[in-house]
Formats: sequence, C-alpha cells, structure tokens
Amino acid sequence: MNLMVFGAPGAGKGTQAKFLIEKYDIPQISTGDILRAAIADKTDMGMEAKNFMDAGKLVPDSTIIGIIKDRLAQDDCKKGFILDGFPRTLGQAEALSELMSNMNISLDKVISLNVPDELIVGRITGRRVCSSCGASFHVDFNPSKKEDICDYCESELIIRKDDNAETVKSRLGAYHDQTAPLIDFYTKMGVMVELDGTKDVSEVTADMFTALSK
Ligand code: AP5
Ligand code: MG
Repeated sequence: MNLMVFGAPGAGKGTQAKFLIEKYDIPQISTGDILRAAIADKTDMGMEAKNFMDAGKLVPDSTIIGIIKDRLAQDDCKKGFILDGFPRTLGQAEALSELMSNMNISLDKVISLNVPDELIVGRITGRRVCSSCGASFHVDFNPSKKEDICDYCESELIIRKDDNAETVKSRLGAYHDQTAPLIDFYTKMGVMVELDGTKDVSEVTADMFTALSK
C-alpha cells in the first residue's frame, strides 16, 4: 500500500497515520517530523527550515523534495509507505509523481481529512506530542492513558513550538493558498477519498479502513 494522509494543520493526519502503521506495517513518512528531528540535531537543513516553521510558512520545495527522495529510497519503503504532510504544493506533487514513476510504483489512495478552520485552533492548542515517536494526543479530545506520557513508547509528551494561536493562522493561510489545490490534483488522478474529519478519532479511523477496503 502506498498511501497519503492529507489535510489542514491539525486535521488528524498524524493521529490516523499511526493506525495505518499498525494495520499495514508500513512506515509513516512525515516531513514535519523529519524537519523537527533535523532541528533537534542542529543540522544545516534543520537550521534553515526552523525559521519557516516557526513562522508557520512552508519550507522551500527544493529542501522537501530532497528529503522525500532520500527517504523513499530506503529499504523499509519497499513494501509501501504512508506520506503525512507531503506533498503541500503543486511543485511537490509533480515531483512525487515523477519520483514514483521512476520507481515503477503508484499511489493507491489519498485520504483527505476534512475539518473546518474553526475547529483547528482548539485541536492545535490542546495538542501534546511525543518527544520521541511524534505520536499526537489532545488534552480533551484524545488524552494519553497516563498524563504527559506517550501511549506508544512511554516517552514524555511536549507542546510543539509552532502550536500557538498566532502561528496557526499562518499555517492555515499556507494550507488554503498552496496545499488545498492538491485536492483537485488527486481527484483527477482518481485516488482521492474525502472523509469527514470532524468525527471522533475512532469513527474517522473506521471510515478510513472502510474506504481502504474498497
Ligand atoms: P507538520 O508537522 O506536517 O504539521 P501540520 O501539517 O501543520 O499538521 P499537524 O501535524 O499540525 O496536524 P495533523 O494533521 O498531523 O494533526 P494531529 O493528528 O497531530 O508540519 C509542520 C511545519 O513543517 C509546517 O508548518 C511547515 O513549516 C513544515 N513542513 C512540513 N512538511 C512540509 C512540506 N511538505 N512542505 C513545506 N513545508 C513543510 O491532530 C491534531 C490534534 O487534534 C491532536 O491534538 C489530536 O489528538 C487531535 N485530533 C486528531 N484527530 C481528532 C479528531 N478526530 N477529533 C478530535 N481531535 C482530534
Ligand atoms: Mg502531524
């Protein structure tokens, strides 16, 4: 299965990707997680990306496409993968199509989680993420079993630097201007599945697996 989870910031991409990993045993490729790891490691790429991320802007396509090219070439992607937060621009989507065509593989489904902007701020400001595996929780809507401890790997939960009401506005602006047009791109490709992302986490997961079984 070569899958993509798509949607606005805070739509639930990371949350649903974790269920896809468990079911299909394929890796999640989150460009956001890869960039945050590069920032933590203080690499040149991480330091360059940090300013864009802190401002809620998109990191340049050339950096992102380079990351994906390297990641898809790794052995664990041979049996499939889940793209999370990539692509986010038409340029990235076209680069992905070319890359996959060169690898003789194709996308099976794009799962779009549709959530209106007015629900996004509450989701993002209440989010807690795992400092180690990147899993997402929410203080009210999706609490971890033990307070501030990850259910998956027992590491500490933290608040992401870009999870504040101010940055969310820029992130939503970038989404509507640069990323939402990809809904059309993947609908025309015949792989788009649009789901109601406002339902409870478990209902969205059930809808996603129903769509994937068709
Ligand atoms: P990234 O890390 O990808 O962030 P994002 O797209 O803003 O998305 P989020 O991770 O915020 O949301 P999510 O959809 O994963 O939601 P989650 O499941 O956590 O990117 C960060 C930055 O990196 C970007 O701003 C950009 O600068 C840069 N970047 C990354 N990729 C890039 C690219 N390709 N090109 C250029 N720049 C790039 O859920 C959110 C919250 O809601 C959680 O608290 C969760 O518990 C809760 N929740 C989830 N589902 C539900 C539900 N059904 N009901 C109620 N609550 C729910
Ligand atoms: Mg995420």
